Amino acid sequence: MEFTAIVDPKTRTSAGCAVIGLYENGDLGHGAQRLDAQLGGLIGKLHAQGDFAAKLGDTLLLPQPAGAASARVLLVGLGSRGSFTRKQYRKAVLSSAQAIAKTGAGDAVVYLALEEVAELEPLYRAKIIAEVFSAQRYKIPDLKTGTKPKPPKLETVSVAAENARSAKSMAEGLRIGTAIGSGMGLARDLANLPPNICTPTFIARRAERLAKEFPSIKTKILDERAIKALKMGAFLAVTQGSAQPPRLIVCEYHGAKAGSPPVCLVGKGITFDSGGISLKDPGAMDEMKFDMSGAATVLGALRTVAELALPINVVVIIAACENMPGGKAVKPSDIVTSMSGQTVEILNTDAEGRLVLCDAITYSRRYKPAAVIDVATLTGACIIALGNHLSGLMSNTESLAEELAAAGLRADDRAWRLPIGEEYVEQLKSNFADLANIGGREGGACTAASFLSKFAKDLEWAHLDVAGTAWLGGSQKGSTGRPIPLLVEFLIKRARPGRAHAQ
Ligand code: BES
Ligand code: MN
Ligand code: ZN
Repeated sequence: MEFTAIVDPKTRTSAGCAVIGLYENGDLGHGAQRLDAQLGGLIGKLHAQGDFAAKLGDTLLLPQPAGAASARVLLVGLGSRGSFTRKQYRKAVLSSAQAIAKTGAGDAVVYLALEEVAELEPLYRAKIIAEVFSAQRYKIPDLKTGTKPKPPKLETVSVAAENARSAKSMAEGLRIGTAIGSGMGLARDLANLPPNICTPTFIARRAERLAKEFPSIKTKILDERAIKALKMGAFLAVTQGSAQPPRLIVCEYHGAKAGSPPVCLVGKGITFDSGGISLKDPGAMDEMKFDMSGAATVLGALRTVAELALPINVVVIIAACENMPGGKAVKPSDIVTSMSGQTVEILNTDAEGRLVLCDAITYSRRYKPAAVIDVATLTGACIIALGNHLSGLMSNTESLAEELAAAGLRADDRAWRLPIGEEYVEQLKSNFADLANIGGREGGACTAASFLSKFAKDLEWAHLDVAGTAWLGGSQKGSTGRPIPLLVEFLIKRARPGRAHAQ
């Protein structure tokens, strides 16, 4: 799908569908005022006679309205004018995207970004349009046989701007939103694919393909022998019960000068988490194919960064393997030596994420990184703490935590700070090794992150626990692509610190 910013002060652009907003008090949105005049006051009449209440997200399609330049006009309810904030705006955009998808329109002109939205500049208004329209169009790579649903018709979206200046920043917003859309598409595809297809080897191939597509990316794939040579005893313990070979996937993106310290994004890539010998309940075990969502996220974020050619260096490090039971599987009470040299008593083989991550974090040291951020579906406890709405955020560096939380806010992909520290490390004491890999039920998300902090040590490090946010269950089962919007917002700000931003 293609997005362009256009200057259209007269609401005269002809398209398959024009999208205009209306507030519930009857106020016409910016594009709507001029269009209403062309339609002889029809929109005002519809509201007055009670046919369109303009509640937030309401839509009404007017086919072939006489006097309009477009074949269809889609009215979108904006709700209360006084509280038209970023959230309301996003909802109105989503409803528009859903309603247009049900029509035959091949192109649309959207006037919603002309509205004044509290604390949201034109760039962000346009970014949201590209992001939401792209996400709406996403289709799960399903393996259903039978007739395929028709491909979506909407191909081009023009976003109307007030003047040339705001059109310029909207064009930038559309570029960013589009790139986020394609990064999220990649991540969601990987996470949604079944684990017999999306194996560690498969993810590695996707990473190699990314390097083919973008000369700015160099991908290195380390196999089991190379992982052994690195002495990643914790990572190797997790993979040893599986017939699928593990992969350590390293993608270097060069966007800034060679010496500039990179941001390392570390992803948990458990392509299936059965729990291992500490086997999980069968109830929702199928959902453990999503346990590589951290890996999918960092790869998707890298795609976005490369597409935007951001002036920053980024290194993605993915520890990919399966966690399976079997005769060769690691056992509760086994003790392994991590790449850092610290020994770990594996008391529960289902706490495997921290084992693969601790070695991947240690590996990141060779890049002398400016910051290390790991992304992982790490604990059920994080879902209990924060639900499915916010990601857990833990860090050993105040400023980094603040940067990430602020990026999440601006990107509508929020993360909430949870504590780490000595009290939690205390829970990880073992009588037999430097650390145990579990710390009891209490504060499970915090003990998991505190385990990682023992490997991050002096690195500027943050951890995003996305167990609750990376996928949805139930009838909407599928990957969300989160927290790519947060990560990309963070990286954009790091790459271009001077730029103006929302809020
Ligand atoms: N991948 C899971 C975490 C998870 C659980 C994510 C449910 C999403 C939904 C992780 O590997 C795990 O099993 N964690 C255990 C840790 C426990 C054994 C200390 C958990 O959260 O139960
Ligand atoms: Mn597990
Ligand atoms: Zn897991």
